[in-house]
Amino acid sequence: MEPALKRLVVVSNRLPVALRKDEDGWKLKQGSGGLVTAMAPVLKNRGGMWIGWSGTSDSGAELDGLMDDFTEEAGYELCTVPLTEEDVDGYYYGFSNEIIWPLFHDLQSRCRFHPRYWRTYLDVNFKFAEVVARRSSPEDYIWIQDYHLMHQAFFLKSMGVRRNTGFFLHIPFPPPDIFMKLPWRAKLIQALTEFDLVGFQTVQDRRNFVGSLHRLMPEARVEGRGAVVTINMGNRSFRAGAFPISIDYAQFSDMAARPDVVQKAFDLKEALRHRKIILGVDRLDYTKGIPERIRSIQTLLRRYPDLKGKVNFIQIAVPSREEVDEYKELRTEIEQLVGRVNGEYSFPGWVPVHYHYRSLPHEDLVAYYAAADVGLVTPLRDGMNLVAKEYCACNNKGDGVLVLSEFAGAAAQLQKHAYLVNPYDVEGIAKALHRALYWPIEERKAHMTRLREQIRRGNIFRWVDSFLRAGIAKSLDDFPEADT
Ligand code: ADP
Ligand code: G6P
Repeated sequence: MEPALKRLVVVSNRLPVALRKDEDGWKLKQGSGGLVTAMAPVLKNRGGMWIGWSGTSDSGAELDGLMDDFTEEAGYELCTVPLTEEDVDGYYYGFSNEIIWPLFHDLQSRCRFHPRYWRTYLDVNFKFAEVVARRSSPEDYIWIQDYHLMHQAFFLKSMGVRRNTGFFLHIPFPPPDIFMKLPWRAKLIQALTEFDLVGFQTVQDRRNFVGSLHRLMPEARVEGRGAVVTINMGNRSFRAGAFPISIDYAQFSDMAARPDVVQKAFDLKEALRHRKIILGVDRLDYTKGIPERIRSIQTLLRRYPDLKGKVNFIQIAVPSREEVDEYKELRTEIEQLVGRVNGEYSFPGWVPVHYHYRSLPHEDLVAYYAAADVGLVTPLRDGMNLVAKEYCACNNKGDGVLVLSEFAGAAAQLQKHAYLVNPYDVEGIAKALHRALYWPIEERKAHMTRLREQIRRGNIFRWVDSFLRAGIAKSLDDFPEADT
C-alpha cells in the first residue's frame, strides 16, 4: 500500500549535481556514488525538494542560474546550502571523511580524531538545519541521508521546529567496540535517537546500533522483533529498521537492451578479441579493496597459467575525495600495482589489466557491465554496494557470475546466488575467479536469473515505499513486512 505522502524533502550533503569549474567556466557535474544513484530516481518519480551542498564554496548569480536550470529539468526543486571553505574542510573532509567514514567501515587506524572537525561538523549541521527549517513546513516528510548530517533532528528540535524526520545511513554501522572509539560517541548516538525513524542497510547494522545504544544510554528499551522495531527512551520513543537500498532495475536493464548499448558492448568485446572479461567498478576508495583485487588477478595468472592470453581484468575507478591524502596515496598504489602485473604478464597482443581512472557516461558504464563475464565486487566493507546490483541488472543474457565480498551489505541479500569471497584472501578470490570462468552455463544462468529476479523485485521504489511507510505509519501493525 502506498503511504499517504506529504511533500518529500530529501536532505543530503551532496546534491545529484555538483558545481565544478574547468577551463571553460562553471559546469554542472553529475554527483558520484551510491547515494545519488539511489535517490535521483526517487525524487524524479515523486517530486519534492532536495536540499544539499552545491559542491563549491563559491557563490553568485551565474551559479544560482545553473542550479535553477537543473531544477526546471529535473521535476523537483533543488535548494543549496552555502558552505565556506573552512566548513567544507572541517565538516566534509575532516569529520565526515577522516573520522566517520573510516570508523564506520571498521578502519579505525585511519581516523584523525581532531576536536576541530567535531566542532565544525556541529556548526555545519546547524546551518543545514536552519535551511531545512526555513524551506519546509510541518506537513512535509524530512528525509535525512547519510553520515554527514546525523545531527539534523537534534538541531531542528533545539530550534523548536517540529517535523516528521527520518534518517537513512548508507554506510555500515560499526560493532559497539569500534563505535566506542569515537570521542563524541555519546553525543552522536543521542542525536540519532532524536529522529522519528532511523534506517540501516542490514539487520546487522541495526543490531550494532542497538548494541552501542545499550552501552551509552542504558535506559533504551527495544520493543518488537520485525523489520522495524520501536525503541523506548523513557519519555519518548523512535523507530529503527533495516531497509536494504537498491537501484532502478528497469532503467539499467532497459538501457542494457538498447541497440546502441548492445553495439557498444559488442565493440568492447571485439576490441578485447572476445576474451573473458572480469570487471571491477568503484569510486577510488580504500574501502573498496582495489589493491587486494589486483593482487588476486596477479595470483590468478600465476596459479592458473591456462588463463594467460584468455582473460582481461578491467578496473574502472571514478575519482573521489582527491584532496584527501589517503586517496592520493591509494591512487599511486593502484597505478603501481597495475604496472607491476602488466609488466610481469603482458605479451604482444595481450595486456591483462585495463585500468580507467575516470567517471564514465551512463551508457558506457552499462555497456561494460553487459559485456563482462564476471562482476568482481570485493569491498573490504560496504554499506550495500550498488555496483553488485547494477552488474546483475545489466546482465540481460543472464550468464554472468557475481563474485561478491562477504563484507558488503549486498551479501546479506544476495548470498545464495552470488559467489561470496573474503576480500582480504587474494588466493581465495583467485580460486573463485578460476571456478567462475569455467562454470557450466546452466549453473551460471540458474544463479544469475535468481539474482536478477531478486533485485528486480527489491528495487529502489520498493525501498522508498517501505521506508516511508515505516516513517509515516501510526502503528507498526501497518508495517508487517519482514526484511531480508
Ligand atoms: P559508493 O556509494 O560507496 O560509491 P556503490 O557501489 O553503492 O558505492 O555506488 C557507486 C555508484 O557509482 C554506482 O551507482 C556506480 O554506477 C557509480 N560509478 C562507479 N564508478 C563509476 C564510473 N567510473 N563512472 C560512472 N559511475 C560510476
Ligand atoms: C558514498 C556515501 C555518500 C557519498 C558518496 C560519494 O556513497 O554513502 O554519502 O555521497 O559515497 O562520496 P562524496 O564524498 O563524493 O560525496
